[in-house]
Amino acid sequence: MKAHRPLIVANWKANLPAGEEVALAGRIATSLPADQRAEIVIAPSSLGLVSVTSLLRREHATLGISTAAQDCSVEEVGAHTGEEPAAHLVGIAASVIVGHSERRRERGESDALVGRKLARVVLAGLRPILCVGDDLRGADTRERAPYLVSQWRGASAGAAELGVDVSTLLAAGLVVAYEPIWAIGSGVPATAQEARHVARTLREAIGADLPVLYGGSVDAVGASSFLAREPAAHEERLDGLLVGGASLDATTFASIVVAATRA
Ligand code: PGA
Repeated sequence: MKAHRPLIVANWKANLPAGEEVALAGRIATSLPADQRAEIVIAPSSLGLVSVTSLLRREHATLGISTAAQDCSVEEVGAHTGEEPAAHLVGIAASVIVGHSERRRERGESDALVGRKLARVVLAGLRPILCVGDDLRGADTRERAPYLVSQWRGASAGAAELGVDVSTLLAAGLVVAYEPIWAIGSGVPATAQEARHVARTLREAIGADLPVLYGGSVDAVGASSFLAREPAAHEERLDGLLVGGASLDATTFASIVVAATRA
């Protein structure tokens, strides 16, 4: 079994202008205890990505915090006004979030489009973080599973359209984040048991022991329950968290990281 090093992703969405993102990144870096073991990834807005990345490299390099883009274009480099191709993130972001439910809902992103973006991320040599999530609060895993599995199948088919197969996605370090739509920003997270069942379902559908994160109203208390290793079976484990609202406060986010690494 691999050493337990949780992956904690801060998704700042469109909450802050770039200057405030840089200040927040600095506060987070100085709030973290020196002995924390998590892999931390910060996803600022596209406008703040370069400045946040350079601050972390210049002033806090020993912490090893990397950055992610919150999205990327489905287009290649070229004449696509306003687009931000994955290839242009190389050297800046290490990872790219694709398929967040806010983009699926607000921008009408389909599974196939999300899959083509996954392919662009992998072809650029970056790590994709694929978000999937159901709108089935109170459902059991039997009801959720077909929905989540079809999101995965649609995305992997979209990636295949651009010549990227599942083994290539896995080799690129594919991470899947289970983010139930009803839990995002609602203050009511899924239970650890629900999230673990989903983690198992996704691993079975994908056919690989890949990292699975949970996201949706995570706080410090939830962080330890999601990441507690016992009594979850290996295939039900959660490898980390995707944190939205609670990552906008440095002290709160640092306490989530601490809880996660002690779980
Ligand atoms: P939340 O957002 O933590 O504010 O619920 C999570 C997400 O959307 O990534």
